[in-house]
Amino acid sequence: MYHSKITGLGFYVPDNVVTNDDLAKIMDTNDEWIQERTGIKERRHIKRGEDTTTSMGVKAAKIAIERSGISNDEIDFIVFATISPDFYFPGPGVALQKELGLKTIGALDIRNQCSGFIYALSIADQYIKTGMYKNILVVASELQSLGLDMTDRGRGVSVIFGDGAGAAMISREEDVTKGILSTHLHSEGEHAKELAVLAPGMGGRWVTEILADNDPNDESYFPYMNGQFVFKNAVVRFSEVINEGLQANNLQVSDIDLLIPHQANLRISQFIQQKFKLTDDQVFNNIQKYGNTTAASIPIALTEAWEQGKIKEGDTLVLAAFGSGFTWASAIIKW
Ligand code: UT7
Repeated sequence: MYHSKITGLGFYVPDNVVTNDDLAKIMDTNDEWIQERTGIKERRHIKRGEDTTTSMGVKAAKIAIERSGISNDEIDFIVFATISPDFYFPGPGVALQKELGLKTIGALDIRNQCSGFIYALSIADQYIKTGMYKNILVVASELQSLGLDMTDRGRGVSVIFGDGAGAAMISREEDVTKGILSTHLHSEGEHAKELAVLAPGMGGRWVTEILADNDPNDESYFPYMNGQFVFKNAVVRFSEVINEGLQANNLQVSDIDLLIPHQANLRISQFIQQKFKLTDDQVFNNIQKYGNTTAASIPIALTEAWEQGKIKEGDTLVLAAFGSGFTWASAIIKW
């Protein structure tokens, strides 16, 4: 029996900083509203032609690989999480394999929205626990800015999301008291349409119909979010899945050295912090700088926390996410 552990972390965000004031120039919004409701001050948007979902993932992955000390030849498998792939198919996992010059290893693309990184981590953990693989590259990358409705109509969603990528090398750990202790995955498809992009899709409207209709009021290919409903579900599910992870490992809230919540909204993170009576030092947030980067938000935050020396050997880390699907998840890690 093996455990798996994170042996290298990396993240990449585009240079192009988009402030709330920048958004206020192109839609009816303002810095005060965005900061008060979400905590976001700025986010990054790619410049077209400079970055793609794959290229951002590759940049993050290169840093994670280098820090892990594991050579490309030793990487056994790729798990790539995104909701914003370069192509409808194939997914970006194979493009990452090519760009990194990896052997013809398996590449699994997953799309579990804001929970994508924890789902990916769970998959990697299971492959390593069974002994099938030793080193798995987990990448989460999102290019959301090109798919947002940057008009007044889309302001409730478009001010929140940003672009970026995070990556983690997951490797075999012989000491079963260390590494990923457990992961907990959930879904509730009943609420799938409360936060979704419904087109193009074979079950909804395909590209040909969208083009034929040429309807300027068509919003089906922009993200829709029932914000307050998502918020209410998020705070409940975050709490549940954190408790589930703690209980599974006989841990108390006081054992948490660092909670890294998916960066959905600073108000959600603050609500969870207050509910669990955690101090500022026990919760890591960086949504202020990057907005919500969906699957990439946890590995970006995890990498920044590690770079800032906030994660030490022996620490108990809790990762928790909630998002479209609905899906939600947690991971308990002994560093
Ligand atoms: O990552 C996946 C999980 N996602 C989440 O967890 C997000 C959960 N939801 C939220 O974070 C919040 O619901 C939002 C930040 C999206 C929205 O905040 P809210 O407090 O729920 O605002 P609201 O949607 O109820 O809108 C309140 C008002 C409305 O105006 P009226 O009807 O009161 O006149 C909106 O039209 O704010 C207006 N509004 C805006 N005003 C300025 C909506 N978006 C904007 C905007 N700038 N960008």
